[in-house]
Amino acid sequence: MFKNPWAQNPWFESVAEAQRRAKKRLPASVYAALVAGSERGTTLDDNTAAFGELGFAPHVVGQPAQRDLATTVMGQHIGLPVVISPTGVQAVHPEGEVAVARAAAARGTIVGLSSFASKPVEEVTAANDKTFYQMYWTGTREQMVSRMDRARAAGAKGLIITTDWSFSMGRDWGSPEIPEKVNLKAAVRLAPEVALKPRWLASFARNLPDLTAPNLAPPGEKGPTFFGAYYEWMQTPPPTWEDIEWMVTAWGGPVMLKGVCRVDDAMRAVDAGVTAISVSNHGGNNLDGTPAPIRVLPAIANAVGDQVEIVLDGGIRRGSDVVKALALGARAVMIGRAYLWGLSANGQAGVENVLDILRGGIDSALMGLSVPSVQDLRPEHLVIPPGFTRELGLPATVRA
Ligand SMILES: Cc1cc2nc3c(=O)[nH]c(=O)nc-3n(C[C@H](O)[C@H](O)[C@H](O)COP(=O)(O)O)c2cc1C
Repeated sequence: MFKNPWAQNPWFESVAEAQRRAKKRLPASVYAALVAGSERGTTLDDNTAAFGELGFAPHVVGQPAQRDLATTVMGQHIGLPVVISPTGVQAVHPEGEVAVARAAAARGTIVGLSSFASKPVEEVTAANDKTFYQMYWTGTREQMVSRMDRARAAGAKGLIITTDWSFSMGRDWGSPEIPEKVNLKAAVRLAPEVALKPRWLASFARNLPDLTAPNLAPPGEKGPTFFGAYYEWMQTPPPTWEDIEWMVTAWGGPVMLKGVCRVDDAMRAVDAGVTAISVSNHGGNNLDGTPAPIRVLPAIANAVGDQVEIVLDGGIRRGSDVVKALALGARAVMIGRAYLWGLSANGQAGVENVLDILRGGIDSALMGLSVPSVQDLRPEHLVIPPGFTRELGLPATVRA
C-alpha cells in the first residue's frame, strides 16, 4: 500500500505543537472557545509568562539514576504529579471527556470532570476510577444534593468546588459564537468555517456534538442545554463560606476548593474543612488582572501548607513548570488547555502524548537538579527573581 512520506506523524513533541495542530484542525470558533481568557488577557498571559521568569540551579555531577514522580492527591495515588483539571463541554472531540478519562487512567492519574461536561459521569468513572467531580454553586440545595448523589453513586472519589467565576463576557480579541444546539440552523451558519475543517467534521461521523450538560439532570434524564445550565447558574445567588461548609458536609468525602489566590481565603477554606485547595485563577478566564497562581503560591503554602493539600493550576505547559510549582509548595498541578490541545490534535492518544511530555519534562528537570523525588523539591532549587511573588490577603499574624 502506498504510504505518503509527508503524512504527519501524529506524535507531537511539545504542548506548543499540540496547540498548533489543534488550531489547524478545529473550526475557528471552537479553537477560540478553548483559548478563552477575559478582557485584556493580562492574567491569561501572566499565567504562562510567570513560569518563564523562574530559573533553575542545576548540578553537574551526582544526578540520581532513577527519579520518583509518584504522589497522592485527596487519597488517590498518582503516577505523576499532574491531574486533569475539569473543563466544560469537551465536544471538540466525539469522545470528549471519556477519551480524556481513559488517557488519564492509562497514565495513572486523576481526571477532574466538570458538571458542565458533555458526557455522563457514569461513562467517565467507568473509564477512570480516579474521578473527581466538579461543581459550581448552581441551582437549589436539593438539586445540588441530587447531583452529588449521582456522582457519588457513579463512583467519583472526590468533589471539586469551583466558585471563582464572575460572568465576565468581553475579550479584546473577541468571543466565539457558540450555538445553542448544533442543529441544521447552526450548521448552516457555521458551515463556512466547518467546511474548512473536513477532518474535524468527519471525526464526528453522524453524531454532531451535543451541547448539553447531562450531569445536571437525574441519571437517565436529558440534561439542560449548555445555555440553560449557564442561565440557572447566573440566577443562583453566589455561595457564602457557610454554604461551602454545607457542601463539604453534604459530600461527606474529600473536597477541593478551586480558585484560591489569597492567604486569608486559604485559611478560611481550611476552617471550612476542605481536604485540598487549588491555587488558581480559572486559567485567566475570570477576573482579569489577577496574578498568576505561581506568584501567589509561596505565601499560601507558607501559611497553610501543613494543614491542607495544595495543588496549582494555570499556565502549565511543560514538565519544568510542574517542577517549579512543586518547588514552591504545591504537591501536584492540574492542567487545562494543555490536554485540551492534545485532545483536539489526536483524541485519547493526544492527551496521553501531553501527559508523556509533562512526565518526561519533570523527570529531566529532577535529574538536572539532582533531586531524586518530587517530594524533595524546595525553593532553593529555583532562581526566583526579586519581586516575583505576590502576597495577597496576608493577615498581620502570618506577616509577622
Ligand atoms: C475551555 C475551558 C473550560 C473550562 N471549564 C471549566 C469548568 O467547567 N470548571 C472548572 O472548574 N474550571 C474550568 N476551566 C478552568 C480549568 O479547570 C483550569 O483552571 C484552567 O484551564 C487552568 O489553566 P490552563 O488552561 O492554563 O492549564 C476551564 C478552562 C478552559 C480553558
